[in-house]
Amino acid sequence: MAEFTSKIRTIEWIDTYSRMVDQTKFPEHFEYVDITNGQDMFDAIKTMIVRGAPAIGIAGAHGVVLYAQELAKTGLSGEDFICKLLEKADYMASARPTAVNLMWAVEKQKEIIKGFAGDVETLIEKLKENGKKLELEDIEINKKIGDYGAEVVPKGATILTHCNAGALATVGYGTALGVVRSAFANDPTVQVFADETRPRQQGARITTLELTMDGIPVTLITDGMCSYFMKKGMIDMVCVGADRIAANGDAANKIGTYTVAIAAKYHNIPFYVAAPLSTIDTSIKSGDEIVIEERSHEEVTHINGKPICAEGVNIINPGFDVTPHELIAGIITEKGILRPDYNKSISDAFRL
Ligand code: MRU
Repeated sequence: MAEFTSKIRTIEWIDTYSRMVDQTKFPEHFEYVDITNGQDMFDAIKTMIVRGAPAIGIAGAHGVVLYAQELAKTGLSGEDFICKLLEKADYMASARPTAVNLMWAVEKQKEIIKGFAGDVETLIEKLKENGKKLELEDIEINKKIGDYGAEVVPKGATILTHCNAGALATVGYGTALGVVRSAFANDPTVQVFADETRPRQQGARITTLELTMDGIPVTLITDGMCSYFMKKGMIDMVCVGADRIAANGDAANKIGTYTVAIAAKYHNIPFYVAAPLSTIDTSIKSGDEIVIEERSHEEVTHINGKPICAEGVNIINPGFDVTPHELIAGIITEKGILRPDYNKSISDAFRL
């Protein structure tokens, strides 16, 4: 199987700080920003300088190191240091509520903090090492997801995706777009249809940008167009990412994903979710338990700072929706493609 090399590195720990691509500047600028303290990391996650479930997980893990470095400078040590750092870690995990990868990665740092009995400097080194390990593992996991996913991509397929589940939503390869990258490496006739993804336009601003940078053919459509192209026989499969998957396979992803899944079912087009096991939250039975982030009304009322509707109109802006497991043909993970019955295949995957 051919390997696809992407040059995009979304987030990276460098010595004492975290370097990330500033995703609020797309598509005009591709710039890096260095995050040097815990509060700035919290804000970077909240304001979506870094976004996408796996990427904000890594950002959270880096954020804990940044807080540890800051607390060390205050002279705190021993139990006091540990207690304060655990408090800061919980704060970091609360930056966004839906993507479980954030809580998952912060929890991985907390496990190290809780079990530690040595000096502060050694603890900081351990947290840095763990952050780096999670970073590198993310790329490896995504490549595995990509390779498993590529096996179900038909020759010459047009793959519809929603939002951005690419290199820029992870450390550097992508989940749904990892599947695209791996498929494209073997079959350069594969192409992507990208939903614009209102209100924040991650499909337009980010998916088209990263696929174009990597030379993968992409066609941008607005969100309401997907059924039209499905009916015309122009879409062969759908592949999206996820922010949190329940034990029964219900999957939360960017608002609008559920509509795409219903349209795919109606047109008999397989709808796949690509996500690492860290996105699966086995502590919840179904998608009903997933907290959906409510975002700023301005995301809906304005585009590029300009109003697009009557002033004062009522607005509701949930950032995510939940696709019921019945609509999902398979969940592509680093352990293979999980199929219904998801309660069984998910619990088996965690035992592998
Ligand atoms: O609000 P965002 O841009 O963080 O939402 C991102 C998504 O919904 C992605 O599809 C999801 O996080 C999967 S990323 C591999």
